[in-house]
Amino acid sequence: MSERVLESSLPEDLNNPLARILGIESSCDETAAAVVENGRVILSSAVASQVDLHAQFGGIFPEVASRQHILSIYPIVDQALKEAHLKLTDLDGIAVTRGPGLPGSLVVGINMAKGLVIGSGLPLLGINHLEGHLYSAWLGEEGQKLGEPPRFPLLALIVSGGHTELILMKDHLTYEWLGGTLDDAAGEAFDKVARLLELGYPGGPAIQEAAAEGNPTRFDFPRAWLDDSYNFSFSGLKTAVLRTVQQLEKQKSSLPKADLAASFQAAVVEVLFKKTIQAAGEYQTSDILVAGGVSANQALRKKFKAQRKYRVHIPPLALCTDNAAMIAGAGCFRYFAGQRDDLEMDAAPSWSIADL
Ligand code: KG4
Ligand code: ZN
Repeated sequence: MSERVLESSLPEDLNNPLARILGIESSCDETAAAVVENGRVILSSAVASQVDLHAQFGGIFPEVASRQHILSIYPIVDQALKEAHLKLTDLDGIAVTRGPGLPGSLVVGINMAKGLVIGSGLPLLGINHLEGHLYSAWLGEEGQKLGEPPRFPLLALIVSGGHTELILMKDHLTYEWLGGTLDDAAGEAFDKVARLLELGYPGGPAIQEAAAEGNPTRFDFPRAWLDDSYNFSFSGLKTAVLRTVQQLEKQKSSLPKADLAASFQAAVVEVLFKKTIQAAGEYQTSDILVAGGVSANQALRKKFKAQRKYRVHIPPLALCTDNAAMIAGAGCFRYFAGQRDDLEMDAAPSWSIADL
């Protein structure tokens, strides 16, 4: 398989690039573009975050997001090319997030990519956003020594605002889906509980900050083990936090927000960690990969890094939340596997990684 060529030629052979791919990401609330070489080296990565824009509403308004993507997309692509010191003609392909995501946001990136493809004749590659999150674990900065790439088979946990997925990655681009959330995604639970505690938006970083001062054992919030399956459920936990808040308010007590945040975070982290370790044991993998916005969480990172049985790969913070380097990275591996999409390619807002 062509990825074998890629693996064996890296990281020593970087003077002779096999592929430079421009990635474009606009599935949610970041407009991003990046250039990645050989699926591993970030030549540039530009992200325009809409966080401040959406913070005033306490969440993402799809129409506001897509309008902002339209304003940001051209300057961001331009910035990514300039920072990589490359022209379109120096590239080998254009990868863009096809889904899952907000339909009106996805089409902005896809139309930009199609326009560039029409103008340049370069191949178009539609990428699954969650596959992008996985490939963020292969990336490193230009000029820095690349880390050891993850080894197959590996157990992958994707935890983002919209997804909680446990996946057995058998080889490059080869997945077996083991389970996912039955209700709220892990990031969504962070966002909803943060709103409940009036900690601000986005909820993940706000809960993490509040939890740093709190006692994680003060409230014994429920963990949904779901008969030891590889599925997840966070709605019961969210309701338990709500009930506790209501009780405390009824007693006219001031809310111990730090303890509530810390106890909630501990419950989420314990379930994510234990189910991932259980799956890695059952499928006998030596490597674990954790990716997606919630993998930026310090308590979760610490928990995985504290165990010694598995090699753990968690991307650096800037690559945990949405970015385009991960799309370009996955795009490189798809390019080597021969994927080419045509201009009929449309957005796939509900594209499951289980369908890859
Ligand atoms: O991957 P991502 O940037 O976007 C999606 O694809 O959804 O993930 C965003 C999610 C949000 O729910 C945000 O609250 C959460 O990741 N998040 C965190 C942290 N940083 C971001 N959750 C917990 N702790 C964090 N430090
Ligand atoms: Zn994401």
